Amino acid sequence: MIPVAPLANVLSLTPSASEGPFYPTSSMRFNDIDNDLVKISNLEPGAQGEVVRISGKVITQESQPLNNVVVEIWQCDANGRYLHTGDSGRRSRDKDFQGFGRAYTQEDGYFEFRTIKPVSYPGRTPHIHVKVLQNKQELLTTQWYLADHPLNKQDFLYQRIQKNQRDSVHLHFNEAKEPQAFINLVV
Ligand SMILES: [Fe+2]
Repeated sequence: MIPVAPLANVLSLTPSASEGPFYPTSSMRFNDIDNDLVKISNLEPGAQGEVVRISGKVITQESQPLNNVVVEIWQCDANGRYLHTGDSGRRSRDKDFQGFGRAYTQEDGYFEFRTIKPVSYPGRTPHIHVKVLQNKQELLTTQWYLADHPLNKQDFLYQRIQKNQRDSVHLHFNEAKEPQAFINLVV
């Protein structure tokens, strides 16, 4: 018999989730699609909301980092509005919030964003939408949540995630002046 090598630590894939109805409409995006959603070019003042930093790595199940892949995030502004023509809520839009941003991973898979802490809007617990693309091919679409947010237990999409996988999409912010969270995306 050929001996079978023991499996190295294989990571679980980050659970995928619905893209949702508000992947930002191209015509509504700002020219500035960088990884700082709080600042649009040099517009003053910055976005409303609590400014946070989110960083992490895009890695494979074998812990190999993926270099130069695109990580996109989008979320509603502090008033609960998306950059989408279909979001016809009466709440006013925060014109200083970029709403959609993009980061390119470094050689070690590292990416980072500066954005606002997500807020709830009618029907949803706070979340940030995330998409990972390699050569325009989609590797993952998912959503990040605030760990321990009370609305998580009423959220239909959050509840669909297997309990033992939820922590892989939880943002755990620290107490820094600009709170930081680190989260890996396993694709
Ligand atoms: Fe959403």
